[in-house]
Amino acid sequence: MRWTERQQRQLHAMGLRPWGPAVRASIAPVIAEAGEAPEATQQPVVAATAVTAARTGAPSTGAEVRVESLPRVEADAGIASMGWTELARAVSNCQLCGLAGTRTQPVFGVGNPQAHWMIVGEAPGEQEDLRGEPFVGAAGQLLDQMLAALGLSREAGPPQRQVYIANTLKCRPPRNRNPEPVELQQCQPYLLRQVELVQPRVMLAMGRFAVQSLLESTEPVGRLRGRVHRWCGRPLIVTYHPAYLLRNPADKARAWADLCLAAHALRSDHA
Ligand code: URA
Repeated sequence: MRWTERQQRQLHAMGLRPWGPAVRASIAPVIAEAGEAPEATQQPVVAATAVTAARTGAPSTGAEVRVESLPRVEADAGIASMGWTELARAVSNCQLCGLAGTRTQPVFGVGNPQAHWMIVGEAPGEQEDLRGEPFVGAAGQLLDQMLAALGLSREAGPPQRQVYIANTLKCRPPRNRNPEPVELQQCQPYLLRQVELVQPRVMLAMGRFAVQSLLESTEPVGRLRGRVHRWCGRPLIVTYHPAYLLRNPADKARAWADLCLAAHALRSDHA
């Protein structure tokens, strides 16, 4: 197989070697011809009948998860009716959990509020805590490269080429420890309201805490990725967190396939 220059650039941006067997096996079918957006992966969009009702606690089989209505945001009527300015102010003044005492500043989100793509990560790290922007450290650089390979960016551009990025937690856990359940629960309404305001056409949940917060599932990422879930009527793709990919580069090819699947799901929904 011959790789076009564009294909090679895409692979390079992901840290993948065009001649690597993992690339040939898992992503060759998803990379489009030069100049085109990537095609769908070979994994089919899961039929609407294969539903795991994550929110009702039904046993999870690693099948599609559907969340038909917002999980808990209704319970917090104040947040559920906020606009962007009020929401940002509420996050900035938030004292709901102990992280308020250790953060430098909350990290709200970044990108066009009308972006077609929304990415949900885990929590700010040291760099993010200092800068007040999500994904600006090493994991963020990989994320930006992955997005660029699909022609997407958090910077200015048309909404169909833009991403809005937010985290499940708005404040950095000390020493980058994992989020605690109570912190995820307290912060969840802010994230849900961000999704409601952005109204993205496709969502990417990166890592297990984004999965826990959005899908309310404890299923491992490896079992949920590679298929199209539904979140309040829109496609949601689960994929590996960029920080995990930095530690496990062998899974980059799968993450790339997930991104291509998201692009395909978006196109299929709006064909
Ligand atoms: N990891 C995340 O999940 N979010 C960030 O903002 C930075 C690192």
